[in-house]
Parts: sequence; C-alpha cells; structure tokens
Amino acid sequence: MQKDDILRLLRDVNLIPSEKQTLLSNIAAQAAAMDMPCYIVGGFVRDLLLSKPVSDLDIIVEGDAVKFGNALVKKFGGKLTPHHKFHTAIWHLPETWNLVPGTLDLITARKETYERRGALPAVTPSTIKDDLLRRDFTINAMAIRLDGDHFGELLDPLNGQADLEEGLIRILHPRSFIDDPTRIFRAIRYEARYSFNLEHSTFGLINFESLDVIPRLSGERIRHEFDLIFEEEKSSQMILRAGELGLFKPIHPKLPLFNPDYSDFLEMDPTLDIPASRTAMGYMLWLMDSSEDEILSIGRRLDFTSELTYSVWAVSQLKKSLPFLTGSTPSVWTFALEKLPLLSIYVVYLVAREDALLDFLSLWRHVKPHTTGDDLKARGLEPGPRFGEILIQLRAAWLDGDVHSFDDELHLLEMWLK
Ligand code: CTP
Repeated sequence: MQKDDILRLLRDVNLIPSEKQTLLSNIAAQAAAMDMPCYIVGGFVRDLLLSKPVSDLDIIVEGDAVKFGNALVKKFGGKLTPHHKFHTAIWHLPETWNLVPGTLDLITARKETYERRGALPAVTPSTIKDDLLRRDFTINAMAIRLDGDHFGELLDPLNGQADLEEGLIRILHPRSFIDDPTRIFRAIRYEARYSFNLEHSTFGLINFESLDVIPRLSGERIRHEFDLIFEEEKSSQMILRAGELGLFKPIHPKLPLFNPDYSDFLEMDPTLDIPASRTAMGYMLWLMDSSEDEILSIGRRLDFTSELTYSVWAVSQLKKSLPFLTGSTPSVWTFALEKLPLLSIYVVYLVAREDALLDFLSLWRHVKPHTTGDDLKARGLEPGPRFGEILIQLRAAWLDGDVHSFDDELHLLEMWLK
C-alpha cells in the first residue's frame, strides 16, 4: 500500500473518529518537535489496512516514552502515570477531549527475552524494528510512523500486508507459541473474527510442545483469553475451535468441550432488564453440565471471582432441579428462584425453554403485595417471624392468582388476622 493510500485511510472518519484523528496529529506534532520517531502499532494498523474501524491506539516511540508523556501533558494537559521500570506511561487525556477510552498507552520500543516458558518476558529499550519482531503475528507486526514528514509511512518488515491480503495468521518464529502460548488463543480469535486461516506451519506449531507450556500459565492470564473470546461476536466458533485444538485438557483435566448445541445462546435478550455479561454467560453455558466439584475446581484454576463461580454453580443446580419444579405453582417457582442470580436463570431458560423461568424473569419476580410491614404494625401486630410469613403468603396469593386487586388482598389479610 502506498503512503497516499494510508493517508487516505488515516483521514477516513468512518475508520477513525475525528477526535482521534486530532489526537494523532497532536501526538505527531509533539514527537516531531522532540525529534523522536513515533509510531502507531499493532491492531490499529491491522484494522486500518483492512478498512475496518480501528480499536485502541498503541503508541510507540524510539526514545523515552515517559519523557514523551511528560511533554504531552505539559503541552496538552491531562495527567501521566509513568512506569519507569517498563519504560512506559499511561497518559490520562484531558477530560475536555471527551475521548473513550480516556487513556493512551505510550511505550518505548523494546526487545523482549523470555527467560522461562510461559512467564512474562524481560524487556529492554530498543528500535521499532526489534519491537515489531517481538510480536505475535505478521498481521500485528506493522507500524505507521506519525512524526513530522514521516506521517503515514508504513513499516512492514515481516510482510504483514501480504498475509492480510491472503487472510493468513502467521507467527514470526517457531518458538513463538512456546514462549507465549496465549498467542494460540489470539490466533483462534483472529481466525474466526476475520475469517482468516492459520498458515500451514503456524497451525503445525500448535502441537504437543506448545500445549505443554499451557499448564504454566496463570489462571488469570488464561481466563483473560477466554473473557476476550466471549466478548467477540463469533465467540461460539472460537470456543469450539479452542476445544478442537486441544487447549482445554492442559488447562484443567475436567474442562469440558463447549456443547455446540448451546452455541447460539451466547447472545443476551436485551428486553429482559437483567444485568448482562457476555463473559459470564459464556462460562455458564460452557460449564453448566459439569459436576459441583468440577465447577469449583475449574473456577479455582481459572481464577473466577466467587460471584462467577456461584453463578455457574447456580446454573448447573437449577438445570438439575427443573424436573422437580416443572408443573409447580408460580409461587413455588418464585420462591425457589428468587435467591439465584438472574443471569443464571436466564441461561437455564435458554437451554431448557421452560416457560416458568421466563415468566419469573419478566413478571413474577416483580410481583409484591401492597401491604407492608408498617401496615401490619399499624394493625396492631407485633413485629416478629409471623410478619414475614404473612407477607410471603400475600405475595404467593398474588402470584398464584388467588387475589387480583388490593381489595382482594385486604379481604384475605383480614380473614387471616381474625
Ligand atoms: N501482542 C503480542 N503478543 C501477545 C499480546 C500482544 O505480540 N501475547 C502484540 C501484538 O502485536 C498486538 C499488540 O501487542 O497487536 C497489542 O495487543 P492487544 O491490544 O492485545 O491486541 P490488538 O492487536 O489490539 O488486537 P485485538 O483487536 O484482538 O485487541
């Protein structure tokens, strides 16, 4: 691609919103003023060349990113969080710019060495070329230079452009997946997201040797990869592929394959007013047929929050109890479901299509009697366990259609209090 083509893409507001274009020119001007070669790298370049709206900006300088950040703050405002040890900084952009996200990562071009398989690498400042060579795939190893007259120059030392055109995901060296097996998950994401293919030898390197490093990855790092998968549009394709490539056993021997029958359910119905989370739904669908012990053990391996483990457990328990609840009155359903996370109930509804679950989510959970504890006190009742009992019974009467109006409710209450 010629520089002119890239400039055209960089000026396309359908790909880069104009506020972000302004941010880029401000960065470019400051870098030029400091004579500091400055680049935009990674996913931004990949998506731009694919003419897709770009994601977050990652800025790399050949020079000291902290010094560059301080100069940007001085000139444009905002705040800087420097990480001297890593030669990086986070620029908290001026609030008046109203940009989302409101921060920008500034990174010193670096070389990486992996001292131990699966561990995070040691970094030393270096050139942009070295920085591109340390990356995961050729399609992510391109940079566009920003400073001064260089604005719009593409650096593509590994021929990422050709792979983008052919739709190939290619690692940069044979040890890449061994150094960092999270890249296998990343490859799977790109493969489905862009309908690309794993280049032949890259595919071959997802083998016994690289899978063998997966057990060394921390639970948090692995879970992060699955979180990213569940946030993607084609998540079901990705999670099925991860199972097919044998990624689960090295993570946890009991991690099941994702049931393809559930793969259409990864989307949330937004009309139901339930706090939604695509990632939580993903884990619930994935693990709902596992045993209680397996869920607890997998949750520990993947460093789930206790809330997530509970929600997944609730799905499996509810699914198992459905045969005992089917045919019950609305009040029995309601009192059985009430303590469970709404999203867990919704997920069981998706797979079991038990109408009572949907009735609970859309109607029954909102049904409350008019009478309150204060009303009972006003009628001379002593507060105590009986209070709660009466209120529960009144609610059950509404749920089960024994009362239809406030008058009915009062009538029932008076009968009970006689
Ligand atoms: N990267 C890498 N190895 C990893 C993670 C990241 O080489 N294990 C590099 C890639 O060059 C990637 C860049 O760091 O492009 C930024 O990473 P990230 O923000 O995770 O990915 P994006 O490229 O922005 O892609 P996505 O759209 O999937 O977020």
